[in-house]
Amino acid sequence: MSNAERYTPIRDLLEHAGREVTVAGWVETVRVHGRVAFVVLRDGTGLVQCVLVKKLLDEEAWELGTAGLTQESTLEIRGEVKADERAPGGAELTVSSLRLLHLAEEYPIQPKEHGVEFLMDHRHLWLRSSMQRAGLRVRAEVMQAIHDFFYDRDFTRIDTPILTGSIGESAGTLFSTDYFGERAYLAQTGQLYVETACPAFGKVYCFGPTFRAEKSKTRRHLTEFWMVEPEVAFADSDDNMRLQEEFVSYLVERALERCGPELEVLERDTSKLEGVRPPFPRVSYTEAVEMLQAKGSAIEWGKDLGGADETLLAEAFDRPVLVYNYPKEAKAFYMKENPDDPRTVLCNDMLAPEGYGEIIGGSQREDDLGRLLERIREEELPEEAYSWYLDLRRYGSFVHSGFGLGVERTVAWITGRPHVREMIPFPRLMNRLTP
Ligand code: 4AD
Ligand code: MG
Repeated sequence: MSNAERYTPIRDLLEHAGREVTVAGWVETVRVHGRVAFVVLRDGTGLVQCVLVKKLLDEEAWELGTAGLTQESTLEIRGEVKADERAPGGAELTVSSLRLLHLAEEYPIQPKEHGVEFLMDHRHLWLRSSMQRAGLRVRAEVMQAIHDFFYDRDFTRIDTPILTGSIGESAGTLFSTDYFGERAYLAQTGQLYVETACPAFGKVYCFGPTFRAEKSKTRRHLTEFWMVEPEVAFADSDDNMRLQEEFVSYLVERALERCGPELEVLERDTSKLEGVRPPFPRVSYTEAVEMLQAKGSAIEWGKDLGGADETLLAEAFDRPVLVYNYPKEAKAFYMKENPDDPRTVLCNDMLAPEGYGEIIGGSQREDDLGRLLERIREEELPEEAYSWYLDLRRYGSFVHSGFGLGVERTVAWITGRPHVREMIPFPRLMNRLTP
């Protein structure tokens, strides 16, 4: 029997009621009340209260469990499982023996209020606390749901490079590095590559870390974040928006279905998520500007919506809103010109409710070689670096659309947490590269 198999997961204790089991984990708290002591143990699957009764234990075991046992020490505990409705997980352990696997030094994170910078400096330890565990569990579920959604719909996963020679989104926010004498960039997006896989596979998606040298210290920005980017052959901008609302509704439903306990720990008001179902409201960029001006915003037609505008606009809706057809100058070079109003492009953002801002950016792609070249030149992008991307418009061009959803912003919204930095295990921010 391997070590791991010898231990019963705390989550499953109730199935063993009345029997002796062995568990192993880390000490959350120790309380001694005369001849009885309570040790709360965490093993990654759950928490259990272990009850030590002096007269039932030999002296050494009683000493170990009560004198000097520190928070986060590693313990192996043997005991009988007692069903107890009031206990977390529905069970308690009556301890018969315990073994110290490691006595922890004084733990820096105490059950009191710490400043967020302090907690971020100790992120590698902060991961162990209940709110962080809950948030990252929801993240893991959302990531699995992303794969399931696309797998079930016959998309092929295509992995795109992180080191690239072409600028994916905009020159302003690039991380660059020397690549054997050439300039390489960290990918801002996998889109351009995933587009080229469309004629090979039809429906594709990429999902990985993306990088933006954003000089913004807001609650919505990371310099390294995870993005999923589907791309669909023969889909137009309307098809694209329909896929987005179906996708986001699915992610919310999965979190509600499978992360109930986590959302409770996070004190999320889930009634705000229950109505997230298609169809989502749609407003054109031009209508959005009018709505915002009527609400007192200083926005002018032609400018991209800022964070404050996004929050203001989203307030009018009980579910995410799709804002479509932005002005060309506010968006990236690859978006298709709107034939009905060439000042705009066939694109959309999805804005989450409750102030979480843009969670999706997407568009129909420019499929005309001449127009795409013109846009690359207008933006003063290095044409040579895009020859392979332009080939897609040379050999069997086709209508196609796709979008990118940011995982951390989506999970922040679903969990109701204020800042994206808690939604990734090790956040990279303008002023943070460690731990
Ligand atoms: O709107 P963006 O820049 O779109 C793209 O990158 C396209 N290439 C996607 C595509 O069409 N395939 O970014 C997409 C999403 C945003 O809506 C947001 O959720 C997230 O990525 N995002 C960020 N998340 C955290 N920190 C940042 N700095 C982010 N920048 C974008
Ligand atoms: Mg965007």
